[in-house]
Amino acid sequence: MEFHLAPLENVSCWAFRKIYRGASDSYTGMLSLTNLIKRKNTWDEIDTFKIEGQKQWIQIATSKEVECDNFLKKLEEEIKKNPEKNNIYGIQLNCSCPSPGLINIGQGPALIKRSTKVINILRELLKQDKYKIGIKLRLGLNEIEVKQRKIFTLLKELEKIAIENKNFTNVTIHFKHAQESSSKEYNYSLLNEISSYNLPIIINGGIRNAEDIQKLIGSIDPQNIKNIKGIMIGREAMKNPDCFMEIRKKLDKVNQFFAIRNLKEIKGEFEDNCKIHTPKHNYLKTIKERTPWA
Ligand SMILES: Cc1cc2nc3c(=O)[nH]c(=O)nc-3n(C[C@H](O)[C@H](O)[C@H](O)COP(=O)(O)O)c2cc1C
Repeated sequence: MEFHLAPLENVSCWAFRKIYRGASDSYTGMLSLTNLIKRKNTWDEIDTFKIEGQKQWIQIATSKEVECDNFLKKLEEEIKKNPEKNNIYGIQLNCSCPSPGLINIGQGPALIKRSTKVINILRELLKQDKYKIGIKLRLGLNEIEVKQRKIFTLLKELEKIAIENKNFTNVTIHFKHAQESSSKEYNYSLLNEISSYNLPIIINGGIRNAEDIQKLIGSIDPQNIKNIKGIMIGREAMKNPDCFMEIRKKLDKVNQFFAIRNLKEIKGEFEDNCKIHTPKHNYLKTIKERTPWA
């Protein structure tokens, strides 16, 4: 099973991601392709310097196929200029951020109902063979879309992409629609049906520990469990950077991971990382505000 540290805008800089031992995958926060194409300084946020044991993803937001080709070209230029950033495993398309600014321009979860558009964007991204491609979805833009089962139309199309191209490697589902507040209880009633699709699913939302994962997996029909590729954690990971090690000790039943750290040790590691690759001020500010250890 894979253990993904969630993309966290203005938080997931290299210095932050690097403290997450036991996480198999990590992400930059969401980056607008329009900004990456037009603004030089946005590339600082692609800080994919080496992290032992983690597959690193860039998360992007776009609704324009043409931006993908442009971005992939610029990405290669960036890697040539900064070869130490050449540790990118994959690119994930964001169809999940609930920001009205994003939805109003047809991006993020506004794309869930537009399966042809999503497939066209993914096909553009899949024209290269260097990076894996994934997608992060919500259950729909709102309750109406959930009732209209828009996500299932999209999953059907994604199944075709997964058969066509081995570089399409995962579908992360944040189990809420985009109008639901972060404090609302998660409703996993669609999990079993979603996992019946022939797609590698990463489950996201409200996961805190190994017991939560076992409960979710236990609610899936045995024949569908093979489609669960992993889980993703955001807020609990911000609280407890050792959560992946704690979970893996219980689920993998191995003690290959490091000793659990106290909050002071975590802070110290983060500060050391910041000396190597200093994050932008807004990242430092958000991390300080949103975590108990910084
Ligand atoms: C501070 C913060 C920033 C976030 N930024 C992003 C982002 O850039 N891209 C994204 O797909 N999701 C983003 N999310 C959502 C998380 O990736 C995740 O889907 C959500 O928090 C649910 O998982 P959790 O219950 O484990 O926190 C963000 C969440 C938080 C709390």
